[in-house]
Amino acid sequence: MHPQLPPGFRFGMSTSAYQIEGTAGLAPSIWDTFAARPGTIRHGEDARVAIDHVGRYAEDVRHIAEAGTHDYRFSFSWPRVLSGGIDFYDRLVDALLEAGVRPVPTLYHWDLPQTLEDAGGWMNRDTAHRLADYAGTLAVRLGDRVRDWITMNEMNVHTLYGYALTDHAPARGLGLEALPAAHHQLLAHGLAVQVLRAHGAATVGVANQHFPVRPATGDPADRAAAGLFEELTNWTFSDPILRGEYPNEMIAAGIGTGGAQLDRDLELIRARLDFYGVNYYEPTMIEAPRAGKDYSGVLEVDIPDGMPFSPVPVKSDERTDFGWAIVPAGLTEILTTLKERYPHLPPVIITENGASFHDGPPDAEGRVRDERRVSYLDAHLRAVSAAIDAGVDITGYFVWSALDNFEWAAGYDERFGLVHVDRSTLDRTRKDSWYWYRDVIAAQRRS
Ligand code: FCB
Repeated sequence: MHPQLPPGFRFGMSTSAYQIEGTAGLAPSIWDTFAARPGTIRHGEDARVAIDHVGRYAEDVRHIAEAGTHDYRFSFSWPRVLSGGIDFYDRLVDALLEAGVRPVPTLYHWDLPQTLEDAGGWMNRDTAHRLADYAGTLAVRLGDRVRDWITMNEMNVHTLYGYALTDHAPARGLGLEALPAAHHQLLAHGLAVQVLRAHGAATVGVANQHFPVRPATGDPADRAAAGLFEELTNWTFSDPILRGEYPNEMIAAGIGTGGAQLDRDLELIRARLDFYGVNYYEPTMIEAPRAGKDYSGVLEVDIPDGMPFSPVPVKSDERTDFGWAIVPAGLTEILTTLKERYPHLPPVIITENGASFHDGPPDAEGRVRDERRVSYLDAHLRAVSAAIDAGVDITGYFVWSALDNFEWAAGYDERFGLVHVDRSTLDRTRKDSWYWYRDVIAAQRRS
């Protein structure tokens, strides 16, 4: 039997601009600059062509719509909009609506125009105002047809990997000095909510990544390290939105904005949301750094020496081909934790969840038999259902991702799609998981 979600529950598929569109002819983004530097992307790949979604969007909309998908989450490329390419989104939105799919775009999914980075990027408060202007441009152009909006994607991952560490663009490596980048993105979120509402948006939300943070042992030092890491990577990005404050004084001091200005910023940032988007992949395990232990290579991400916490692998028997632990119960756990932490939590939408398996090319019968993805998604939908049973109001779920795509620093090896994309021909093939998802949605309709 397929996982059962309540009547009215909405099923979606998710992508982001940089990972699928292709950037040829656009003003550069921080990811183009990053990818051009040797040693940043696993095999030195880049996203100039990506999966040529811009050239093939009509076909891609069919893959999305013919599964019965209710909602499609994509993101706008800020460089494309700046380069005069907003027409593309007109065409995409029209194609989606014609196919009966509701567009749910995200304003910003990490591809900051390089010109803005040159002016300080997210470390510069002014970038938040530029984001608000860009939100206005999009709302004016598309607001007659796009009713549902997501402001920002995973501000925590962008801050941690891009500003605190060097694993993602713009690779600033600022450590805890990166906290202003968090505040300015949150401010951008708050300003965008205001702009989108002023232009008549029906619903507005955000997509935040959340994960349970577990101490490696019961030792008080490990617990304290895990607690701080949890505040920095989870609550720094949700407390301001859902409570109007930062989780602790060290963080509040670190963001670099204070006094009356901070009060005004938090007033904007805490604006009411129609839904709260949660991206979930795996829990994190943290220990207090052990003297003399070499953490390099323990995980894909190296935390610089001197930080008060060290991520260690989550204990799990099952992993995706990306090495991520498969822990569906972690999704139920984080959803119930959010509900406990925020009594006025808006309805939740799972804005991303999925798994990379290195699916081979279609077999002789043209099938991509990705049963491990099916079982991953099945288990996580059941975890969502368990959270609903536990009292969390959850109204939708988006699979990451509709199609195989450019997985940031990991390049094209990591395949998250329901639809397989051949790297040389760019041919699309529906995987077994696509057919499974179609059946889940159809079963839902009948129930
Ligand atoms: C998330 C990102 C998304 C994708 C998935 C696998 O952190 O938001 O773009 O890369 O991970």
